Amino acid sequence: MLNNMPVSYSGIQPSGNLTIGNYLGALRNFSAYSEKYKCFYCVVDEHAITVRQVPADLRRRTYETFALYMACGLDPEKNTLYVQSHVHAHAELAWLLNCFTMFGELSRMTQFKDKSQRHADNINAGLFTYPVLMAADILLYQTDVVPVGIDQKQHVELCRDIAERFNAIHPGTFTVPEPIMAKTGMKIMSLAEPTKKMSKSDENPNAIVYILDDRDTIIRKFKRAVTDSETCIRYAEGKDGINNLMSIYSCFTGKGFEEIEREFEGKGYGDFKLAVGEVCADALAPVQKRHAELLADKGYLEAMMKKGADEAAYYARKTLSKVQKKLGFVML
Ligand code: TYM
Repeated sequence: MLNNMPVSYSGIQPSGNLTIGNYLGALRNFSAYSEKYKCFYCVVDEHAITVRQVPADLRRRTYETFALYMACGLDPEKNTLYVQSHVHAHAELAWLLNCFTMFGELSRMTQFKDKSQRHADNINAGLFTYPVLMAADILLYQTDVVPVGIDQKQHVELCRDIAERFNAIHPGTFTVPEPIMAKTGMKIMSLAEPTKKMSKSDENPNAIVYILDDRDTIIRKFKRAVTDSETCIRYAEGKDGINNLMSIYSCFTGKGFEEIEREFEGKGYGDFKLAVGEVCADALAPVQKRHAELLADKGYLEAMMKKGADEAAYYARKTLSKVQKKLGFVML
């Protein structure tokens, strides 16, 4: 809680162009909290450097991701939108929490195992302690809820464990947060390999629909989506490709699976794929338009980044000081 309001906190890495997985699993759900929660949404550039980045690309995507928050309906006057590296308390609290996080816990993180396989030449300490920085992000703001896709649930659970461990020694320090996941959309799968999560770092561009893909590209990618040898549109075990397309269609239209099955009775996969592409392109068009307008005015984006960073730093400083005092640091 902050100022008697429950707090919602989430972050997105500017480590690649954002996908409809990021959009449906996280981004588009954020604005729903704006009325009842004090909301903090962060572009987590410090997390992104756990994997090598081209500096110019990282900078460009930081602006783009920030603009996407706003294009998806987050008003910077109502929500605290900011860039992680602009608020120094994140890195500082992460160090303190490192001393309350166990080696064994970090070794069990599935994302660390995946990423260390994919980047075997660069298994750096930051990749290993990544979830501690994420815990610092969340705990700095006395967060109640963390809206995320299912792939981040394990990290939020570790954050809870760290908070509880710290609180057991120093009572009343941190709010213990809950992860919140969208019912459909919490795990959007790759269009090329539907047993794998759709990921912005996938090297196959046909596996991914980007939020900023143009209409023709979106429709083409859905047309090529891997399905199965059946012809009827139904949600069933083993039909991973169709299940994924049905989930995406459901997210964009609000229709349940049975309703979708009825709608496409007697129709083939081709018709269904086209319909999914069309609803996706229709939903993203206004976001893309607003995004382009926002990106055209970097001065405004920077002013909003600065405003957000100042607000975030104010609250972050309070929690950091509380932690430092509890740990026995001399406060001047
Ligand atoms: P990131 O940048 O990988 O993803 C951002 C958000 O998008 C969700 N997501 C998905 N949801 C459904 N289907 C998918 N295929 C899919 N791919 C990604 C993610 O679950 C996430 O919610 N560690 C985080 C960033 C982070 C953070 C935080 C999140 C840093 N600090 C504090 C919450 C709170 C990450 O790498 O997300």
